[in-house]
Amino acid sequence: MEKVYVITGSTSGIGKAILEKLCNNEDSVIYAGYRNEQKIPSDNRKNVKYFYIDMNNRESVIKAAEFIKTETNHVDTIINVAGSVVAGPIEKIDTQRLREQFDVNTFSHIEFTQNLMPVLDNSKIINISSMSSFGIFPFISPYCASKRALDIFFNALELENHKNLKIISVKPGVIATPIWEKSVNANLQYLESCTEYAQELDFIKRNALKNSAKGLSVSKVADLIIKIDKNKNPKSSYTIGKDAKFAQIMSILPQGLLNKIIKFGMKYRMNL
Ligand SMILES: NC(=O)c1ccc[n+]([C@@H]2O[C@H](COP(=O)([O-])OP(=O)(O)OC[C@H]3O[C@@H](n4cnc5c(N)ncnc54)[C@H](OP(=O)(O)O)[C@@H]3O)[C@@H](O)[C@H]2O)c1
Repeated sequence: MEKVYVITGSTSGIGKAILEKLCNNEDSVIYAGYRNEQKIPSDNRKNVKYFYIDMNNRESVIKAAEFIKTETNHVDTIINVAGSVVAGPIEKIDTQRLREQFDVNTFSHIEFTQNLMPVLDNSKIINISSMSSFGIFPFISPYCASKRALDIFFNALELENHKNLKIISVKPGVIATPIWEKSVNANLQYLESCTEYAQELDFIKRNALKNSAKGLSVSKVADLIIKIDKNKNPKSSYTIGKDAKFAQIMSILPQGLLNKIIKFGMKYRMNL
């Protein structure tokens, strides 16, 4: 039987890898979200229908859901992938940037799902959260908080809804994708203005650029998503990567002890 998927953030990294795997099954129809038309592949597959969505723009999110509802009366699986990283010390961060982070990583996914509710029933919603949702990474706390909030809001949706929706949070560790370089470019000007934190931010920047290459491959995450989609009774949360599993274990320590370990770890690594 035909399966209908909706995926956001399908033009790069993890989303692109998931889309490539999904469209191998010709019995599937996949609605794939893009924000940059130039990134739509020219060898577009017959079972993929691209739609425009800008997660930073409410109107565009609502329009995207409207488009999908005119195309189909049932969606089997939504895969919420689109995301970005806002970084910086909380002492200095412009709260407008915090709002933008939540718009892209959290609120837009809620709004998109709310507007797709009429075509959801016995459906799965797979959110690409992050190990950052465990909340233990300094200088990217806007990102951590947006992912934690995403998990909390969607868990509430599973508890509250009457439509047998299964919500799954996937929390990858570091994955080799362009997100790291994009985040450095997007945050650079602002980070350079935080002179009091120059040493820490330089460390964070170098680390982010290393992550572009050293992370797990996107195909590992895509394989996990395919497995979760096929599973009739998936778990509510999956971590992927040794670093994500480590973050999960660390997050259960008492906050005071955890903070001491993180501060020590940062100092030690910055002096290497
Ligand atoms: N890479 C990691 O280490 C890692 C770890 C844990 C979780 N994640 C999460 O995995 C998801 C995918 O990230 P990725 O690593 O694959 O990064 P990526 O390669 O940069 O892909 C992000 C996708 O989201 C889209 N996007 C970003 N901002 C958007 C906006 N305002 N409106 C619409 N689309 C937007 C991007 O569009 P463009 O192609 O036009 O840029 C791209 O398709 C994100 O939610 C991220 O937080 C990543």
